[in-house]
Amino acid sequence: MYHIDRVRVQRLIAQEEERFVRGHPKSKRLFERARKSMMGGVPMNWMIEWPGPFPIFAREAQGATITDVEGHRYIDFCLGDTGAMFGHAPRATVAAAARQMRKGITMMLPTEDSLWVGRDLARRFGVPYWQIAMTATDANRFALRMARETTRRTKVLVFNGCYHGTVDETLVRLLDGKVVPREGSMPPPVDPELTTRVIEFNDLPTLEAALAPRDVAAVLMEPALTNCGIVLPEPGYLDGVREITRRTGTVWIIDETHTWCAGPGGYTRAHKLEPDMVTLGKPVAGGIPSAAFGLSGDIYDKTIGNIMADTTGVNGLGGTLTGNALALAAMRATLDKVITKQAYDRMIPLATRWTSGVQKTIDEAELPWHVVQLGARAEYRFAMVPPRNGAEAIAAKDELLNKFVHLMALNRRILLTPFHNMALMCPATTRAMVDRHTEVFRETAEAAAG
Ligand SMILES: Cc1ncc(COP(=O)(O)O)c(C=O)c1O
Repeated sequence: MYHIDRVRVQRLIAQEEERFVRGHPKSKRLFERARKSMMGGVPMNWMIEWPGPFPIFAREAQGATITDVEGHRYIDFCLGDTGAMFGHAPRATVAAAARQMRKGITMMLPTEDSLWVGRDLARRFGVPYWQIAMTATDANRFALRMARETTRRTKVLVFNGCYHGTVDETLVRLLDGKVVPREGSMPPPVDPELTTRVIEFNDLPTLEAALAPRDVAAVLMEPALTNCGIVLPEPGYLDGVREITRRTGTVWIIDETHTWCAGPGGYTRAHKLEPDMVTLGKPVAGGIPSAAFGLSGDIYDKTIGNIMADTTGVNGLGGTLTGNALALAAMRATLDKVITKQAYDRMIPLATRWTSGVQKTIDEAELPWHVVQLGARAEYRFAMVPPRNGAEAIAAKDELLNKFVHLMALNRRILLTPFHNMALMCPATTRAMVDRHTEVFRETAEAAAG
Protein backbone atom coordinates (compact mmCIF):
# COMPACT_ATOMS: atom_id res chain seq x y z
CA MET A 1 0.00 0.00 0.00
CA TYR A 2 1.16 3.54 -0.73
CA HIS A 3 2.45 5.40 2.28
CA ILE A 4 1.60 9.11 2.12
CA ASP A 5 4.66 11.02 3.22
CA ARG A 6 3.26 14.20 4.75
CA VAL A 7 6.63 15.96 5.05
CA ARG A 8 7.20 15.32 1.37
CA VAL A 9 3.68 16.62 0.61
CA GLN A 10 4.47 19.86 2.49
CA ARG A 11 7.61 20.30 0.38
CA LEU A 12 5.75 19.56 -2.84
CA ILE A 13 3.05 22.10 -1.92
CA ALA A 14 5.76 24.78 -1.55
CA GLN A 15 7.16 23.82 -4.99
CA GLU A 16 3.72 23.84 -6.58
CA GLU A 17 2.96 27.23 -5.04
CA GLU A 18 6.14 28.67 -6.58
CA ARG A 19 5.16 27.17 -9.92
CA PHE A 20 1.69 28.68 -9.57
CA VAL A 21 3.08 32.16 -8.81
CA ARG A 22 5.54 31.97 -11.74
CA GLY A 23 2.77 30.92 -14.10
CA HIS A 24 0.28 33.65 -13.15
CA PRO A 25 2.01 37.07 -13.14
CA LYS A 26 -1.04 38.94 -14.48
CA SER A 27 -3.42 37.44 -11.90
CA LYS A 28 -0.89 38.29 -9.18
CA ARG A 29 -0.72 41.94 -10.32
CA LEU A 30 -4.50 42.21 -10.57
CA PHE A 31 -4.91 40.70 -7.11
CA GLU A 32 -2.42 43.16 -5.60
CA ARG A 33 -4.26 46.08 -7.22
CA ALA A 34 -7.69 44.73 -6.25
CA ARG A 35 -6.67 44.51 -2.59
CA LYS A 36 -6.57 48.31 -2.48
CA SER A 37 -10.34 48.56 -2.94
CA MET A 38 -11.87 45.07 -2.62
CA MET A 39 -11.93 43.34 0.75
CA GLY A 40 -9.47 40.48 0.47
CA GLY A 41 -8.76 41.42 -3.15
CA VAL A 42 -11.89 39.72 -4.49
CA PRO A 43 -15.51 40.73 -5.11
CA MET A 44 -16.74 37.79 -2.99
CA ASN A 45 -14.80 36.17 -0.20
CA TRP A 46 -15.20 32.55 -1.36
CA MET A 47 -12.94 33.43 -4.29
CA ILE A 48 -9.88 33.41 -2.06
CA GLU A 49 -10.56 29.81 -1.09
CA TRP A 50 -8.86 28.53 -4.26
CA PRO A 51 -5.43 27.00 -3.67
CA GLY A 52 -2.41 29.22 -4.25
CA PRO A 53 -1.64 32.59 -2.66
CA PHE A 54 -4.09 34.41 -4.96
CA PRO A 55 -6.95 33.38 -7.25
CA ILE A 56 -6.56 33.19 -11.01
CA PHE A 57 -8.47 36.03 -12.65
CA ALA A 58 -10.82 34.72 -15.34
CA ARG A 59 -11.07 36.21 -18.79
CA GLU A 60 -13.88 34.07 -20.13
CA ALA A 61 -15.64 30.73 -19.87
CA GLN A 62 -17.33 28.56 -22.47
CA GLY A 63 -18.83 25.10 -22.05
CA ALA A 64 -16.49 23.08 -19.83
CA THR A 65 -13.49 25.42 -19.96
CA ILE A 66 -12.31 28.68 -18.41
CA THR A 67 -9.55 30.89 -19.85
CA ASP A 68 -7.65 33.10 -17.44
CA VAL A 69 -6.03 36.50 -18.01
CA GLU A 70 -2.68 34.87 -18.86
CA GLY A 71 -4.43 32.96 -21.66
CA HIS A 72 -4.25 29.56 -19.89
CA ARG A 73 -7.22 27.33 -20.62
CA TYR A 74 -8.53 25.12 -17.82
CA ILE A 75 -10.76 22.06 -17.82
CA ASP A 76 -13.43 23.16 -15.37
CA PHE A 77 -14.89 20.52 -13.06
CA CYS A 78 -15.98 23.18 -10.55
CA LEU A 79 -18.50 24.78 -12.90
CA GLY A 80 -19.13 27.73 -10.63
CA ASP A 81 -19.81 25.33 -7.72
CA THR A 82 -22.96 24.18 -9.57
CA GLY A 83 -24.01 27.63 -10.86
CA ALA A 84 -22.74 26.53 -14.29
CA MET A 85 -23.58 22.84 -13.91
CA PHE A 86 -24.83 22.73 -17.51
CA GLY A 87 -21.77 24.50 -18.91
CA HIS A 88 -20.62 28.09 -19.11
CA ALA A 89 -22.59 30.52 -21.25
CA PRO A 90 -25.20 28.02 -22.50
CA ARG A 91 -26.29 29.20 -25.92
CA ALA A 92 -30.05 29.11 -25.35
CA THR A 93 -29.77 30.98 -22.04
CA VAL A 94 -27.50 33.65 -23.51
CA ALA A 95 -29.80 34.20 -26.51
CA ALA A 96 -32.94 34.45 -24.37
CA ALA A 97 -31.25 36.76 -21.86
CA ALA A 98 -29.93 39.05 -24.60
CA ARG A 99 -33.41 39.21 -26.17
CA GLN A 100 -35.06 40.00 -22.84
CA MET A 101 -32.49 42.63 -21.86
CA ARG A 102 -33.41 44.62 -24.94
CA LYS A 103 -37.08 44.37 -23.90
CA GLY A 104 -36.60 45.37 -20.27
CA ILE A 105 -34.75 43.80 -17.40
CA THR A 106 -36.92 44.48 -14.38
CA MET A 107 -40.41 45.99 -14.13
CA MET A 108 -41.89 44.57 -10.93
CA LEU A 109 -44.56 43.06 -13.15
CA PRO A 110 -45.03 39.41 -14.09
CA THR A 111 -44.11 38.31 -17.60
CA GLU A 112 -45.61 35.37 -19.51
CA ASP A 113 -42.44 33.36 -19.01
CA SER A 114 -43.44 32.85 -15.37
CA LEU A 115 -46.40 30.66 -16.37
CA TRP A 116 -44.11 28.36 -18.32
CA VAL A 117 -41.52 28.24 -15.54
CA GLY A 118 -44.08 27.45 -12.82
CA ARG A 119 -45.60 24.63 -14.86
CA ASP A 120 -42.22 23.16 -15.73
CA LEU A 121 -40.92 23.19 -12.14
CA ALA A 122 -44.18 21.60 -10.93
CA ARG A 123 -43.86 18.87 -13.57
CA ARG A 124 -40.25 18.18 -12.68
CA PHE A 125 -40.39 18.17 -8.89
CA GLY A 126 -43.99 17.14 -8.21
CA VAL A 127 -44.99 20.07 -5.95
CA PRO A 128 -47.66 22.24 -7.59
CA TYR A 129 -47.07 25.88 -6.53
CA TRP A 130 -43.89 27.93 -7.00
CA GLN A 131 -42.38 31.30 -6.13
CA ILE A 132 -39.15 32.80 -7.38
CA ALA A 133 -36.20 33.87 -5.27
CA MET A 134 -32.85 35.40 -6.17
CA THR A 135 -30.48 32.80 -4.70
CA ALA A 136 -30.79 29.37 -3.15
CA THR A 137 -30.02 31.00 0.20
CA ASP A 138 -33.09 33.19 -0.30
CA ALA A 139 -35.20 30.23 -1.38
CA ASN A 140 -34.31 28.40 1.84
CA ARG A 141 -34.92 31.47 3.97
CA PHE A 142 -38.34 31.97 2.40
CA ALA A 143 -39.23 28.28 2.60
CA LEU A 144 -38.53 28.35 6.34
CA ARG A 145 -40.80 31.38 6.74
CA MET A 146 -43.56 29.57 4.85
CA ALA A 147 -43.11 26.52 7.07
CA ARG A 148 -43.40 28.67 10.19
CA GLU A 149 -46.52 30.36 8.83
CA THR A 150 -48.00 26.92 8.06
CA THR A 151 -47.22 25.21 11.35
CA ARG A 152 -47.12 28.17 13.75
CA ARG A 153 -43.96 26.59 15.18
CA THR A 154 -40.60 28.35 15.34
CA LYS A 155 -37.75 25.83 15.35
CA VAL A 156 -36.04 24.27 12.35
CA LEU A 157 -34.10 21.03 12.12
CA VAL A 158 -30.99 20.57 9.96
CA PHE A 159 -28.22 17.99 9.75
CA ASN A 160 -24.67 18.18 11.01
CA GLY A 161 -22.37 18.99 8.08
CA CYS A 162 -25.11 20.76 6.13
CA TYR A 163 -24.85 23.94 4.12
CA HIS A 164 -27.99 25.69 2.91
CA GLY A 165 -26.51 29.13 2.17
CA THR A 166 -26.10 31.99 4.60
CA VAL A 167 -29.34 31.28 6.44
CA ASP A 168 -28.71 32.16 10.10
CA GLU A 169 -30.57 29.17 11.54
CA THR A 170 -28.58 26.73 9.40
CA LEU A 171 -25.01 28.06 9.81
CA VAL A 172 -24.58 25.65 12.71
CA ARG A 173 -22.76 22.56 13.85
CA LEU A 174 -23.38 19.86 16.41
CA LEU A 175 -20.58 19.85 18.97
CA ASP A 176 -20.74 17.51 21.98
CA GLY A 177 -24.52 17.39 21.64
CA LYS A 178 -24.89 21.18 21.55
CA VAL A 179 -25.92 23.40 18.63
CA VAL A 180 -23.15 25.94 18.04
CA PRO A 181 -22.45 28.54 15.34
CA ARG A 182 -20.50 27.03 12.48
CA GLU A 183 -16.75 27.51 12.84
CA GLY A 184 -15.71 30.73 11.10
CA SER A 185 -19.22 32.17 10.83
CA MET A 186 -19.77 35.71 12.04
CA PRO A 187 -21.80 35.93 15.26
CA PRO A 188 -25.46 34.91 14.79
CA PRO A 189 -28.26 37.28 15.88
CA VAL A 190 -29.39 34.85 18.57
CA ASP A 191 -28.00 31.70 20.14
CA PRO A 192 -28.70 28.96 17.54
CA GLU A 193 -29.80 26.62 20.36
CA LEU A 194 -32.96 28.77 20.41
CA THR A 195 -33.72 28.43 16.70
CA THR A 196 -32.29 25.14 15.52
CA ARG A 197 -32.07 21.46 16.29
CA VAL A 198 -29.13 19.68 14.65
CA ILE A 199 -28.86 15.92 14.34
CA GLU A 200 -26.76 13.47 12.36
CA PHE A 201 -27.82 12.18 8.93
CA ASN A 202 -28.91 8.53 8.50
CA ASP A 203 -30.25 8.27 12.08
CA LEU A 204 -34.03 7.84 12.29
CA PRO A 205 -34.40 7.26 16.06
CA THR A 206 -32.71 10.61 16.76
CA LEU A 207 -34.96 12.33 14.21
CA GLU A 208 -37.99 10.76 15.87
CA ALA A 209 -36.87 12.07 19.29
CA ALA A 210 -36.04 15.54 17.93
CA LEU A 211 -39.48 15.98 16.35
CA ALA A 212 -41.44 14.42 19.23
CA PRO A 213 -42.03 17.73 21.09
CA ARG A 214 -43.81 18.96 17.92
CA ASP A 215 -42.16 22.36 18.07
CA VAL A 216 -40.16 22.05 14.83
CA ALA A 217 -41.67 23.84 11.84
CA ALA A 218 -39.47 22.24 9.19
CA VAL A 219 -36.82 19.68 8.49
CA LEU A 220 -34.55 21.26 5.88
CA MET A 221 -32.25 18.79 4.19
CA GLU A 222 -30.31 17.77 1.15
CA PRO A 223 -31.47 14.23 0.31
CA ALA A 224 -27.78 13.32 0.05
CA LEU A 225 -25.35 15.61 1.85
CA THR A 226 -23.01 17.33 -0.60
CA ASN A 227 -21.41 20.04 1.45
CA CYS A 228 -19.16 17.95 3.71
CA GLY A 229 -18.28 15.69 0.84
CA ILE A 230 -20.97 13.42 -0.54
CA VAL A 231 -22.85 11.38 2.09
CA LEU A 232 -25.51 9.14 0.58
CA PRO A 233 -28.72 8.19 2.39
CA GLU A 234 -28.94 4.56 3.49
CA PRO A 235 -31.72 2.45 1.98
CA GLY A 236 -35.08 3.34 3.53
CA TYR A 237 -33.74 6.41 5.37
CA LEU A 238 -35.59 9.03 3.33
CA ASP A 239 -38.84 7.02 3.52
CA GLY A 240 -38.41 7.11 7.27
CA VAL A 241 -37.87 10.88 7.21
CA ARG A 242 -41.10 11.28 5.21
CA GLU A 243 -43.07 9.10 7.62
CA ILE A 244 -41.82 10.80 10.79
CA THR A 245 -42.22 14.36 9.46
CA ARG A 246 -45.73 13.58 8.25
CA ARG A 247 -46.75 11.99 11.57
CA THR A 248 -45.40 14.92 13.61
CA GLY A 249 -46.87 17.63 11.35
CA THR A 250 -43.41 18.88 10.38
CA VAL A 251 -42.83 20.41 6.93
CA TRP A 252 -40.24 18.41 4.95
CA ILE A 253 -38.17 20.73 2.76
CA ILE A 254 -35.76 19.19 0.28
CA ASP A 255 -32.95 21.49 -0.86
CA GLU A 256 -32.18 20.38 -4.44
CA THR A 257 -29.62 23.09 -5.14
CA HIS A 258 -26.77 20.56 -5.51
CA THR A 259 -28.63 17.24 -5.77
CA TRP A 260 -30.28 18.43 -8.98
CA CYS A 261 -27.24 16.67 -10.44
CA ALA A 262 -29.19 13.40 -9.98
CA GLY A 263 -31.64 14.00 -12.85
CA PRO A 264 -34.00 16.50 -14.53
CA GLY A 265 -36.37 16.41 -11.51
CA GLY A 266 -33.53 16.26 -9.01
CA TYR A 267 -33.05 13.58 -6.39
CA THR A 268 -36.72 14.06 -5.51
CA ARG A 269 -37.98 12.66 -8.80
CA ALA A 270 -35.14 10.22 -9.36
CA HIS A 271 -36.03 8.56 -6.03
CA LYS A 272 -39.79 9.22 -6.02
CA LEU A 273 -39.71 11.35 -2.86
CA GLU A 274 -42.72 13.32 -1.68
CA PRO A 275 -41.48 16.46 0.10
CA ASP A 276 -43.80 19.26 1.19
CA MET A 277 -41.45 21.87 -0.24
CA VAL A 278 -38.51 21.96 -2.66
CA THR A 279 -35.86 24.68 -2.90
CA LEU A 280 -33.34 25.20 -5.69
CA GLY A 281 -31.17 27.87 -7.28
CA LYS A 282 -27.68 28.05 -8.79
CA PRO A 283 -28.02 26.55 -12.33
CA VAL A 284 -31.74 27.21 -12.79
CA ALA A 285 -31.14 30.25 -15.02
CA GLY A 286 -27.79 29.08 -16.43
CA GLY A 287 -25.90 31.16 -13.84
CA ILE A 288 -27.98 34.34 -14.02
CA PRO A 289 -29.03 34.91 -10.40
CA SER A 290 -32.35 33.20 -9.83
CA ALA A 291 -33.82 30.54 -7.58
CA ALA A 292 -37.19 29.07 -6.68
CA PHE A 293 -39.15 27.28 -4.00
CA GLY A 294 -42.13 25.03 -4.52
CA LEU A 295 -44.84 23.90 -2.13
CA SER A 296 -47.66 21.43 -1.69
CA GLY A 297 -51.37 22.22 -1.98
CA ASP A 298 -51.71 22.00 1.79
CA ILE A 299 -49.02 24.63 2.41
CA TYR A 300 -50.55 26.75 -0.33
CA ASP A 301 -53.92 26.68 1.46
CA LYS A 302 -52.32 27.69 4.75
CA THR A 303 -50.20 30.55 3.37
CA ILE A 304 -52.13 32.02 0.45
CA GLY A 305 -54.04 34.32 2.83
CA ASN A 306 -50.80 36.01 3.78
CA ILE A 307 -49.59 36.19 0.16
CA MET A 308 -52.82 37.87 -0.99
CA ALA A 309 -53.04 40.29 1.96
CA ASP A 310 -52.46 44.04 1.56
CA THR A 311 -49.34 43.61 3.67
CA THR A 312 -47.71 41.07 1.34
CA GLY A 313 -44.83 43.45 0.51
CA VAL A 314 -43.49 43.15 4.03
CA ASN A 315 -44.18 39.47 4.71
CA GLY A 316 -40.48 38.66 4.45
CA LEU A 317 -40.47 36.92 1.08
CA GLY A 318 -38.65 38.25 -1.98
CA GLY A 319 -37.16 41.62 -2.84
CA THR A 320 -37.37 44.37 -5.44
CA LEU A 321 -35.50 42.49 -8.15
CA THR A 322 -36.86 39.03 -7.35
CA GLY A 323 -38.71 37.39 -10.24
CA ASN A 324 -37.47 40.03 -12.68
CA ALA A 325 -38.14 39.61 -16.39
CA LEU A 326 -34.53 38.79 -17.24
CA ALA A 327 -34.35 36.02 -14.64
CA LEU A 328 -37.62 34.47 -15.83
CA ALA A 329 -36.60 34.58 -19.50
CA ALA A 330 -33.28 32.95 -18.60
CA MET A 331 -35.02 30.32 -16.44
CA ARG A 332 -37.46 29.45 -19.17
CA ALA A 333 -34.77 29.02 -21.82
CA THR A 334 -32.51 27.08 -19.46
CA LEU A 335 -35.25 24.72 -18.29
CA ASP A 336 -36.53 24.24 -21.84
CA LYS A 337 -33.27 23.84 -23.75
CA VAL A 338 -30.41 23.27 -21.31
CA ILE A 339 -31.48 21.26 -18.24
CA THR A 340 -32.79 18.43 -20.38
CA LYS A 341 -32.85 14.65 -20.15
CA GLN A 342 -30.38 14.56 -23.06
CA ALA A 343 -27.97 16.69 -21.02
CA TYR A 344 -28.13 14.23 -18.09
CA ASP A 345 -27.70 11.32 -20.51
CA ARG A 346 -24.31 12.82 -21.39
CA MET A 347 -23.29 14.10 -17.95
CA ILE A 348 -23.99 11.06 -15.76
CA PRO A 349 -21.95 8.52 -17.80
CA LEU A 350 -19.07 11.03 -17.79
CA ALA A 351 -19.25 11.16 -13.99
CA THR A 352 -19.24 7.36 -13.95
CA ARG A 353 -16.09 7.41 -16.11
CA TRP A 354 -14.48 9.99 -13.80
CA THR A 355 -15.35 7.86 -10.75
CA SER A 356 -14.02 4.65 -12.36
CA GLY A 357 -10.74 6.37 -13.29
CA VAL A 358 -10.23 7.54 -9.72
CA GLN A 359 -11.35 4.19 -8.28
CA LYS A 360 -8.90 2.30 -10.50
CA THR A 361 -6.02 4.46 -9.28
CA ILE A 362 -7.12 4.00 -5.65
CA ASP A 363 -7.37 0.22 -6.11
CA GLU A 364 -4.11 -0.22 -8.00
CA ALA A 365 -2.17 1.87 -5.51
CA GLU A 366 -4.05 0.38 -2.55
CA LEU A 367 -4.71 3.89 -1.25
CA PRO A 368 -6.87 4.18 1.87
CA TRP A 369 -9.23 6.54 -0.01
CA HIS A 370 -12.65 6.29 -1.63
CA VAL A 371 -14.72 7.97 -4.33
CA VAL A 372 -18.49 8.51 -4.45
CA GLN A 373 -20.73 9.41 -7.40
CA LEU A 374 -24.04 11.22 -7.19
CA GLY A 375 -25.51 11.63 -10.68
CA ALA A 376 -23.31 14.10 -12.58
CA ARG A 377 -21.23 14.84 -9.47
CA ALA A 378 -18.38 12.82 -7.99
CA GLU A 379 -15.98 13.32 -5.12
CA TYR A 380 -13.07 11.52 -3.53
CA ARG A 381 -12.06 11.57 0.09
CA PHE A 382 -8.85 10.62 1.87
CA ALA A 383 -10.49 8.01 4.09
CA MET A 384 -11.05 4.30 3.60
CA VAL A 385 -14.76 4.10 4.45
CA PRO A 386 -17.49 6.42 3.09
CA PRO A 387 -18.91 8.40 6.05
CA ARG A 388 -22.52 7.82 7.15
CA ASN A 389 -23.05 11.32 8.50
CA GLY A 390 -21.66 14.82 8.88
CA ALA A 391 -19.55 14.11 11.98
CA GLU A 392 -17.76 11.26 10.23
CA ALA A 393 -17.36 13.34 7.07
CA ILE A 394 -15.91 16.31 8.97
CA ALA A 395 -13.53 14.02 10.88
CA ALA A 396 -12.30 12.53 7.59
CA LYS A 397 -11.17 15.92 6.22
CA ASP A 398 -7.49 16.16 5.36
CA GLU A 399 -6.59 19.80 4.70
CA LEU A 400 -3.01 19.06 3.66
CA LEU A 401 -3.92 16.50 1.01
CA ASN A 402 -6.85 18.66 -0.14
CA LYS A 403 -4.52 21.57 -0.73
CA PHE A 404 -1.98 19.39 -2.51
CA VAL A 405 -4.53 17.79 -4.83
CA HIS A 406 -6.04 21.15 -5.76
CA LEU A 407 -2.70 22.80 -6.44
CA MET A 408 -1.47 19.87 -8.54
CA ALA A 409 -4.68 20.02 -10.55
CA LEU A 410 -4.61 23.80 -10.93
CA ASN A 411 -1.00 23.81 -12.16
CA ARG A 412 -1.99 21.18 -14.71
CA ARG A 413 -4.96 23.27 -15.87
CA ILE A 414 -7.74 21.45 -14.06
CA LEU A 415 -10.18 23.20 -11.71
CA LEU A 416 -11.83 21.25 -8.89
CA THR A 417 -14.39 22.82 -6.51
CA PRO A 418 -12.20 24.56 -3.93
CA PHE A 419 -13.96 23.53 -0.72
CA HIS A 420 -14.10 19.86 -1.71
CA ASN A 421 -12.47 17.36 -4.03
CA MET A 422 -15.65 17.53 -6.02
CA ALA A 423 -16.14 17.37 -9.75
CA LEU A 424 -19.16 18.15 -11.87
CA MET A 425 -19.63 17.13 -15.48
CA CYS A 426 -21.51 19.36 -17.90
CA PRO A 427 -22.77 18.44 -21.37
CA ALA A 428 -19.65 20.01 -22.94
CA THR A 429 -17.26 17.91 -20.79
CA THR A 430 -15.48 15.32 -22.93
CA ARG A 431 -14.09 11.87 -22.20
CA ALA A 432 -10.61 13.22 -22.95
CA MET A 433 -11.09 15.84 -20.21
CA VAL A 434 -12.17 13.16 -17.75
CA ASP A 435 -9.19 10.98 -18.68
CA ARG A 436 -6.82 13.91 -18.26
CA HIS A 437 -8.12 14.28 -14.70
CA THR A 438 -7.46 10.58 -14.07
CA GLU A 439 -3.85 11.02 -15.30
CA VAL A 440 -3.30 14.02 -13.03
CA PHE A 441 -4.91 12.23 -10.08
CA ARG A 442 -2.51 9.32 -10.58
CA GLU A 443 0.48 11.67 -10.86
CA THR A 444 -0.67 13.38 -7.62
CA ALA A 445 -1.04 10.11 -5.71
CA GLU A 446 2.37 8.91 -6.90
CA ALA A 447 4.01 12.24 -5.97
CA ALA A 448 2.43 12.18 -2.49
CA ALA A 449 3.72 8.67 -1.89
CA GLY A 450 7.24 9.39 -3.15
C1 LIG B 1 -27.37 22.73 -0.81
C2 LIG B 1 -27.20 24.21 -0.94
N1 LIG B 1 -28.24 25.01 -0.71
C3 LIG B 1 -28.13 26.34 -0.82
C4 LIG B 1 -26.94 26.92 -1.16
C5 LIG B 1 -26.85 28.42 -1.27
O1 LIG B 1 -26.67 28.80 -2.58
P1 LIG B 1 -26.38 30.32 -2.90
O2 LIG B 1 -25.02 30.59 -2.34
O3 LIG B 1 -26.41 30.40 -4.38
O4 LIG B 1 -27.42 31.13 -2.24
C6 LIG B 1 -25.82 26.13 -1.39
C7 LIG B 1 -24.53 26.74 -1.75
O5 LIG B 1 -23.51 26.10 -1.91
C8 LIG B 1 -25.94 24.73 -1.27
O6 LIG B 1 -24.91 23.92 -1.46
